[in-house]
Amino acid sequence: MKKKIGFCKKEQGIFTQAYIRHIKDTLRAQVDCDVIDVDFREGYVLNDKAFVGDICLNDLDVYFWHDTVHPSQWHADNHFLHVLKAMESDVAVINTAESTRIVNDKFLSHMTLKKAGLPVGDFALVRADDRDALKSVFMQYEQDVLLKPRFGGWGIGIVRAQSVDVLLSTVEYMLSFAERKHHSLLVERFHKNDLSKWISVVVFGGKALFAYQKPLIGEADWKIYDPDRIDGRGRLSMCVAIPDEVRASAVAAQKAIGKDIIGFDFIYTEDGYKIVDENGRPGLYAHCLEEARIDVAQEIVNLVRSKL
Ligand SMILES: Nc1ncnc2c1ncn2[C@@H]1O[C@H](COP(=O)(O)OP(=O)(O)O)[C@@H](O)[C@H]1O
Ligand SMILES: [Mg+2]
Repeated sequence: MKKKIGFCKKEQGIFTQAYIRHIKDTLRAQVDCDVIDVDFREGYVLNDKAFVGDICLNDLDVYFWHDTVHPSQWHADNHFLHVLKAMESDVAVINTAESTRIVNDKFLSHMTLKKAGLPVGDFALVRADDRDALKSVFMQYEQDVLLKPRFGGWGIGIVRAQSVDVLLSTVEYMLSFAERKHHSLLVERFHKNDLSKWISVVVFGGKALFAYQKPLIGEADWKIYDPDRIDGRGRLSMCVAIPDEVRASAVAAQKAIGKDIIGFDFIYTEDGYKIVDENGRPGLYAHCLEEARIDVAQEIVNLVRSKL
């Protein structure tokens, strides 16, 4: 029987209108299906089913989406993820609600990877008003820590504290204007690393597609920082070979989090490569894809087929 594939990809980066059309044509050529353009972010939940207008998303066979669900606006309670969740009992969703919830939150992602035995940087979750815990973590992490936004990106807002004074004062400063007073902060050990070996790997399903390196372009000399999104299209990024150790960790990390399209930032420390960041929308840079001979349309079709 003809399959019904829901599809949601907005124009962005390599995904021009023509390329999106090409993906859908490739899908129809390889699967006996109707491709239905429908954006779950316009949806609502009625009892246990998801709807967009009068389309019931639960009637689909597979739903593919790759876009943003605005984690920094919605934080943990994300309407869009509830809509996805409502369709998941009936539909194979590419990029499930739970895997998206995890990947959007650096704390949940780190913990998922740690529990899977993967090499993730040391981290802690501490109440902002718990000065004793902040000081204790600071000492355990050898007096060099990062305060990292759980729902952030582009290196923005990551503060490095190498004294307890800077750590506590930064947190107090944040609390002085925060509307809510109860905040749970992600604190990480700053791992000394060789930034020339920084590498980010893009994984689709169980396959590591390619990796890129980024140059230091922001004002910081210890983090990959691009607040003005100068390298949004990755023109300054370089396609690099994936070391075996990195490939194995990236593939295992994809499996642990379960998101079909995902990327991981690795730093090279004294103890080898460590994951410090999990990306729900990894950089799909045209020149890297070309160099690595990756056909993204075909990879997306492969993902859909794997769910049928
Ligand atoms: N625990 C860490 N130790 C050392 N450097 C880190 C650590 N975490 C992040 N960094 C550096 O800061 C950069 C930005 O942090 P990241 O977690 O990737 O956040 P973002 O989501 O903003 O990209 C990383 O790519 C890395 O260069
Ligand atoms: Mg990053």
